[in-house]
Amino acid sequence: MDTAQAIADRRSIRRFKNDPVKRDVIEQLLELTIQAPSAKNDQPWKFVVTTHEAKTRLVKTLQAALEEADAQGQSTGSLRSSIRAMDEAPVIILVFNRIRRDDFPEPHNYAKLLVDTQSIGAAIQTFLLAAHDMGLGTLWICDVLYATDRIQEFASCSDELVAAIALGVPAESPQKRPRQEWQSLTTWMD
Ligand SMILES: Cc1cc2nc3c(=O)[nH]c(=O)nc-3n(C[C@H](O)[C@H](O)[C@H](O)COP(=O)(O)O)c2cc1C
Repeated sequence: MDTAQAIADRRSIRRFKNDPVKRDVIEQLLELTIQAPSAKNDQPWKFVVTTHEAKTRLVKTLQAALEEADAQGQSTGSLRSSIRAMDEAPVIILVFNRIRRDDFPEPHNYAKLLVDTQSIGAAIQTFLLAAHDMGLGTLWICDVLYATDRIQEFASCSDELVAAIALGVPAESPQKRPRQEWQSLTTWMD
């Protein structure tokens, strides 16, 4: 598959087959993921790969967070449907930002957060495209941020949670989702 085709054909996948994904495939994907560019080549990403029993515990952790938020009348966005997709996917990868910003005074710490988050976004998109190229489906999930504390505790990781990626064999082939035309969002200055 060429790069343009992979970019054009990738879709968010929310239904997964029960098939496992082999560890060496996940390792290949992470090897490609870390080829992403990062500001100052800082490579701020950190990954926690969950499969099997650990993934089941992660989903239970999220369900508990959802129930608690519901009981307290707090908003949880689309967490419920994201949990359903995570429940089906055989692999969930938690993505953290391992760079501490405490040493950077205001407003540079905010700039550092933006910069490192962009680098991590590049890594996540690289993962998604590489997985698509291998015939696997992915979902980029930020709903996990509703349960940051619980996930940090689950993963024994005090780094900042950025997102999760669900990975598995797709059980759906969604149509292309709508996009605003780039022409309406682009100004030319010659
Ligand atoms: C930063 C980011 C966060 C996202 N978080 C979620 C999420 O929590 N749950 C979900 O179902 N989809 C999530 N998505 C997937 C988007 O809903 C999806 O990319 C968008 O609807 C376009 O669909 P497509 O990826 O199939 O083109 C996220 C995507 C991005 C880039």
